[in-house]
Amino acid sequence: MPNLKERTKLISAKTVPVPLGELSTTHRIFPGDSRKMAKIEDSSVDLVVTSPPYPMIEMWDGIFSEMNPAIGTFLLEGEADRAYDLMHQELDKAWGETWRILKPGGIACINIGDATRTLGEEYRLYPSHSTISMSMKRLGFYESPSIIWKKQTNSPNKFLGSGTMPPGAYVTLEHEYILIFRKPPRRQFPSGRQKESRAASSYFWEERNAWFTDIWEDIKGARQSMHEADTRKRSAAFPFEVPFRLINMFSVKGDTVVDPFAGTGTTVMAAAASGRNSVGYEKDNGLASMAMGRLLGSVPFLRSAAETRISSHSEYVEAETASGRNFPHWNSTYGFMVKTAPEERLEICVLKEITQAKENGCLVAHYEPQAKSQRPAL
Ligand SMILES: C[S@@+](CC[C@H](N)C(=O)[O-])C[C@H]1O[C@@H](n2cnc3c(N)ncnc32)[C@H](O)[C@@H]1O
Repeated sequence: MPNLKERTKLISAKTVPVPLGELSTTHRIFPGDSRKMAKIEDSSVDLVVTSPPYPMIEMWDGIFSEMNPAIGTFLLEGEADRAYDLMHQELDKAWGETWRILKPGGIACINIGDATRTLGEEYRLYPSHSTISMSMKRLGFYESPSIIWKKQTNSPNKFLGSGTMPPGAYVTLEHEYILIFRKPPRRQFPSGRQKESRAASSYFWEERNAWFTDIWEDIKGARQSMHEADTRKRSAAFPFEVPFRLINMFSVKGDTVVDPFAGTGTTVMAAAASGRNSVGYEKDNGLASMAMGRLLGSVPFLRSAAETRISSHSEYVEAETASGRNFPHWNSTYGFMVKTAPEERLEICVLKEITQAKENGCLVAHYEPQAKSQRPAL
């Protein structure tokens, strides 16, 4: 196994399978522009999970105009289509980098919301999810079915347009997309160690049923206010549960996850909670260092995210067996029943502590060793 210094120096081109008991992972956020992720080697990353600034949502006008001042001019002139196209041209540079850094078989999950906006006289939809799909297809990605993330909201439906009179009212936009792409060909796990690591990264049957449905309705939006000086008022963070699910769905322990638009570092936190290495890029220097501090201070929360998976499964087994349902398999690590054969070897990483590497400011996550339990006599 390479030493910590080697692992933290740069993102290695190969995933190094490590014995699960010895797992430690590294995490860092580079302050910088993800249209050029020079610190990440070609074909070195297993999974990208991200949420970019959303084209034509007003809070991101400034950031897009910094990336290309012509965008600001077109917005001022009411040239909506030209501004929208140029915004996507800037995002396309980050998607090109996503293609470059992903290994063949690697996956990219992009959370994006469409926008509605009146520019000049016209109220219109700007369908970023389909524009990004087309860009990714042009790069060579294969798209998988996407997830509609229907946000829970307490506010009643807003009337837009002509209110209760036909035909001029508008449907309320209350969902976002999680687009899923694979850089072909399909990932292989040829060695015994890789197979073992993959099996240990299995998820529970009931998690599979909740996570792989194409509409997520059970996740609330994240708290949006930020207090630190020099950062914008709203973080636009996604809830922890979004990257936490995606990382556990589409990568294995010891993999490397990248977020090119890291923001408050939610993806990096979810990677640390899941036993994956992570790297973020964030243009806002203040936010990048705040996100690293947030990760350092989040050990109890990240630990509980993993522990909740274990306790929720125990509760599920109890409820299902009480209703007469059968669990044909046994997980000896936790001493509980499971539905499928791969779950027998499932081991959830429980974070123990996070330390700071001396040489480069990288954070290192360490995990609890797994205790094997015995199957009780039936
Ligand atoms: C929608 S937010 C991401 C929020 C993040 N998922 C979280 O949970 O905090 C988009 C982030 O991308 C950053 N950003 C915008 N353009 C960027 C660029 N070219 N390179 C790197 N970061 C950029 C913004 O500063 C913002 O923090």
